[in-house]
Amino acid sequence: MQRDQSKLGLGINPVVSAGATIFRQLKKSRKSSLAGSSTGGAVLLFFLIVLLLGAFISARWINDSDIRSITATATETQILIVTPTTTLQQAPPPQPLPPKPKPKQKPKPKPKPLIIPFSCPTGNQNLTDICPSTPLPPPLSDDASLPPSPSCPGYFRWIHEDLRPWKSTGITQEMVERARRTANFRLVILDGRAYVEYYRPSFQTRDVFTLWGILQLLRRYPGRIPDLELMFDTVDWPVILARDYRCRNASAPPPLFRYCANDLTLDIVFPDWSFWGWPEINIKPWEALQRELKEGNERVRWMDREPYAYWKGNPVVAPTRQDLLKCNVSEAYDWNARLYAQDWFKETTGGFKESDLASQCIHRYKIYIEGTTWSVSEKYILACDSLTLLVNPRFYDFFTRGLMPVQHYWPVQSDNKCRSIKFAVDWGNSHKQKAHAIGKEASSFIQEKLKMEYVYDYMFHLLSEYAKLLRYKPTRPPNAVELCSEYMACPAEGLEKKFMMDSMVKSPHDSAPCTLPPPFSPVELKISARRKTNAIKQVEFWEQRAWESQKSRPMQ
Ligand SMILES: *[C@@H]1O[C@H](CO)[C@@H](O)[C@H](O)[C@H]1NC(C)=O
Ligand SMILES: *[C@@H]1O[C@H](CO)[C@@H](O)[C@H](O)[C@H]1NC(C)=O
Ligand SMILES: *[C@@H]1O[C@H](CO)[C@@H](O)[C@H](O)[C@H]1NC(C)=O
Repeated sequence: MQRDQSKLGLGINPVVSAGATIFRQLKKSRKSSLAGSSTGGAVLLFFLIVLLLGAFISARWINDSDIRSITATATETQILIVTPTTTLQQAPPPQPLPPKPKPKQKPKPKPKPLIIPFSCPTGNQNLTDICPSTPLPPPLSDDASLPPSPSCPGYFRWIHEDLRPWKSTGITQEMVERARRTANFRLVILDGRAYVEYYRPSFQTRDVFTLWGILQLLRRYPGRIPDLELMFDTVDWPVILARDYRCRNASAPPPLFRYCANDLTLDIVFPDWSFWGWPEINIKPWEALQRELKEGNERVRWMDREPYAYWKGNPVVAPTRQDLLKCNVSEAYDWNARLYAQDWFKETTGGFKESDLASQCIHRYKIYIEGTTWSVSEKYILACDSLTLLVNPRFYDFFTRGLMPVQHYWPVQSDNKCRSIKFAVDWGNSHKQKAHAIGKEASSFIQEKLKMEYVYDYMFHLLSEYAKLLRYKPTRPPNAVELCSEYMACPAEGLEKKFMMDSMVKSPHDSAPCTLPPPFSPVELKISARRKTNAIKQVEFWEQRAWESQKSRPMQ
């Protein structure tokens, strides 16, 4: 059963995981480069140039001496591996095109922000009627009168990839209906009002806070969210298998929204509930938590942190986590890891005080490992300047595809965890500046590119692009209830109510959403995939070398 599955599967662990792979993009880019084979020559030429350049430029970024020593000792086959890596690390990451400069306007005096009214019914006013009788905020004026908006972060470009399966066919009502099979709810937006038809309960308050987030989006951009209809599945595992829709005759896949996907699936990823709060385990809305993490991060200087790799989480949810526990320090051997199993029951009853995320930035290295699928904890782990040792993830969520190995995190082999972790910590402790720099790059990514503002803009663009694909006009489903902030927040109690009030959008946003960058070109997708795999191979190679040279010495 869905409900039980999600209980087991449970990205529930606050100290857990999320990841990104690139196979699907490889597959896609292969397809699209076949489609446009006339560009093949140019592509080849480009790669040759990049390759040649790479032979001359070393990856200063990672470490001069490492590269030098590798090249010095490398056999020819090793050089074959190393060269493209260093090259591609030098190649700039695909950047969105800068927005066209708009003619300068004289800054107008800013009008006072409109406060959207919010009040709960008094006496015995019937909640069922509260949404229809609540007026919508006036629609925002069009873009022309708003200040020009800068480009969104690069990971927004994956929106185009996620919707690519329907690019030529569009999305019909029949396709949406097929997605109902596993959906927890159907969401319809008509003229800025939200209607929901529930099919099955979600685990904890996943659906509640996901829908709350969508209502806040409607408050932030009144009049700008197009009419649409979608199916949402709140369970951990992606279910739309790409292989079922690959053959020529196959029907188009059903569009299904959820929190994560992987290379083998076509589920459309959407920001998870935790951005508005997770009351069951006392994780507050992201805006406040992000600020606390920033302060927590400043409490202990990186150099003064414990020089070990730290992980705390629930090992029961996945075999790979139990495997990780074997790397814990013991009397026999120190793999440089300090691992702790979370006492789930004790913490649930104790209000998760021991899991205070903002006070967890006291180790130089923090391990991220997936549970059953992605985990909401990835953003918390990356937010410490500590170097994140990321055990090879199999899943991605909406932002993790913007992360690069060695630039934002240190890759750890999932079938060789202990050795990988030991090497990473040894490397970091002897290259402190570099390890700290990677950690810092990750925390600035989280602080700057994953601001709540961008979470809303991601939703805005994803839903807008999705709505453009609809080939029919959605209508209000007969069994749907209308949702509005009052309908959800007024009867809520305790932390649920507090998190809703804290994360409520109080006024429409006074500028346009960021500008959606264009789709990746097939070449860009290939380069970015190559860059990723080569950086990982590079680290594996260093690791292997270190392991061998250590084996030849007696163990201390
Ligand atoms: C609220 O109104 C609806 C119809 O308008 C009715 O079915 C429902 O029983 C009412 N609930 C209460 C608590 O009065
Ligand atoms: C594809 O569709 C045609 C006509 O609908 C059918 O005759 C054929 O068997 C199908 N082929 C496959 C591989 O399903
Ligand atoms: C790992 O080792 C530390 C130090 O010995 C210990 O406190 C901790 O409980 C161990 N973790 C697990 C999961 O056994």
